[in-house]
Amino acid sequence: MLNKRIVSLLVIAAIFAMAIPFAATAADAPGGCVTCHTGDKAIPAMLTKVKGHPNVTKLIKSVPDGCAMCHKAGAPKAPTLSVAIHSVHKVAKDVKAAAIKGDCLTCHSADGKIKKAPSNW
Ligand code: HEC
Ligand code: HEC
Ligand code: HEC
Repeated sequence: MLNKRIVSLLVIAAIFAMAIPFAATAADAPGGCVTCHTGDKAIPAMLTKVKGHPNVTKLIKSVPDGCAMCHKAGAPKAPTLSVAIHSVHKVAKDVKAAAIKGDCLTCHSADGKIKKAPSNW
């Protein structure tokens, strides 16, 4: 009886531990993308939602800078990295006019640069 309760508490704790990183805020998203996108929300899994996206699982060693091999100005099909990433996260379009603060800081550091980290998959 007691054991069952402990087990179910552990299960609940584990679910929270998985859910929290995905709702990370600026202060606790030090690695940017890979801080939120862990486990079954890792970037390759997320990219399967983008219709027709090439499989880049083995190609990318660092995110998001590695993605720029295709996502760059002048590429024939891929939008620039800022357009692609802002649009899927519903960041307002007119970013140039906006200050880097609040939720922007989950991906950007205060100086406007992009946080990057080794791939976590
Ligand atoms: C603060 C947490 C957070 C950070 C940081 C973050 N994401 Fe996301 N991302 C999300 C959430 C939430 C969604 C939407 C999840 C869903 O639709 O299930 C999402 C969706 C995505 C998708 C799926 C797009 C689609 O078409 O559904 C991709 C790809 C993605 N993110 C890549 C990235 C990359 C690359 C970075 C870093 C530049 C990044 N994310 C940073 C939380 C985050
Ligand atoms: C080999 C080239 C290539 C690489 C590497 C690549 N992409 Fe893409 N990506 C594309 C192409 C091409 C499209 C457009 C797909 C289409 O519309 O058919 C795209 C589309 C997207 C979109 C959808 C944008 C939108 O507005 O709907 C997201 C998000 C995205 N890529 C994220 C990423 C991330 C994150 C990485 C790195 C982990 C990455 N891509 C690496 C080629 C690439
Ligand atoms: C989910 C991650 C994410 C969030 C949240 C985010 N950005 Fe970005 N942003 C990016 C990425 C990735 C790039 C492309 C960096 C590169 O090309 O090296 C970018 C590029 C930019 C650029 C330079 C390119 C351009 O489009 O002009 C500006 C300015 C910018 N972001 C402002 C903002 C502001 C303001 C916010 C908050 C309202 C914000 N961003 C939120 C990921 C994000």
